[in-house]
Amino acid sequence: MMFIDACYRKPTPRPPVWIMRQAGRYLPEYREIRAKHSFLEMCGQPEVVREVTLQPIRRFDMDAAIIFSDILLPLTPMGLQLRFAQGEGPVIDNPITTEADVAALRDPDFSKEMDFLAEALKITRAELSKDKALLGFCGAPFTLACYAIQGHGGGNFDYVRRWIYSNQATFRALMKKFTLMTVEYLKMQVAAGANAVQIFDSWGGALSAYDYLQFVFPYVKKIIERTSMLGVPRILFVKNASHFRSFLRTSEAEVIGLDWTMPMEESRNILGEDYAIQGNLDPMILFADKDYVVRRTKAMLEVNYGKPGYIANLGHGIHKETPIEHVAAFVETVKTFDHATGPD
Ligand code: CP3
Repeated sequence: MMFIDACYRKPTPRPPVWIMRQAGRYLPEYREIRAKHSFLEMCGQPEVVREVTLQPIRRFDMDAAIIFSDILLPLTPMGLQLRFAQGEGPVIDNPITTEADVAALRDPDFSKEMDFLAEALKITRAELSKDKALLGFCGAPFTLACYAIQGHGGGNFDYVRRWIYSNQATFRALMKKFTLMTVEYLKMQVAAGANAVQIFDSWGGALSAYDYLQFVFPYVKKIIERTSMLGVPRILFVKNASHFRSFLRTSEAEVIGLDWTMPMEESRNILGEDYAIQGNLDPMILFADKDYVVRRTKAMLEVNYGKPGYIANLGHGIHKETPIEHVAAFVETVKTFDHATGPD
């Protein structure tokens, strides 16, 4: 698989391409199914998950499919009451406030309690063409903790940070539980057919470099350490992490995901030879006219031309109003890019 080769920095005929949040609301065929089910209902039905996971592949032929699910789903079997409120995003009705709340969190048996995800991975892998990778994923403990502590997303996580500093031991106990849970969650996904996994630390950049290093990074490293025997590449994506990119080079992940605020060339230099990189076109560029989308995609490819270990992607999830033709232009440009013709 070209995707896996790129993760291990082996030479590939061109960079593989996929898009974060590629299965979702910007696709009319997704909206059609979504009109009949709630988001959580969809996630719980393996045939629906397979269908929605494969929709972007059928339309755009990316090199990897990411299983349709959510980073927050494993919180339910731990005892947190998760729901997706209309127009509000995810909500947890019993957020963590005390040490006793952390102690009460359960240690799920994912093969039983999330058997729908294992089944979805299995049947999706069976249908996906052999040259394409199937990606599993999880939230990093800090990003999960943001929802578990605040009860919802959004804001600059002032409340979460205030809570962390004033409940340090309880926070560490929570991170420990999420870390152990996440290792089991990823193991289950790989056993069910995932060829690579991405760890999303979408809100990690809310912390200072010092605090990320003190309170969060040791747990991320532990997850990577404890999943190394699974034999699949791990992609670590920490959003807004420019201020601590240099730490990420000690993560031992195979791939580092970059958002659009992290310049590609400079990031490669900081990360060194040991990492493949993934990213990082600003998803909002897909709202510009098509020529501009193509031009900016080419410029991104040009920077990475001839360097092994590059996976083309956006710098974060695709927006739900993105014009489909521009998604097609992005993918097509990666697939047909010819260095000789230059960036324009
Ligand atoms: O295509 C894919 O990338 C796979 C599926 C996927 C979803 N969520 C589906 C989804 C992935 C990888 C995620 C990860 C996720 N979920 C993250 C980390 C990635 C990131 O974007 O930073 C986070 C922070 C979440 C939590 C979450 N779930 C949010 C903030 C939302 C959006 C709420 C909203 O209405 O905008 C969700 C819901 C969600 N997860 C949707 C999808 C397709 C929208 C569901 C719908 O209403 O159809």
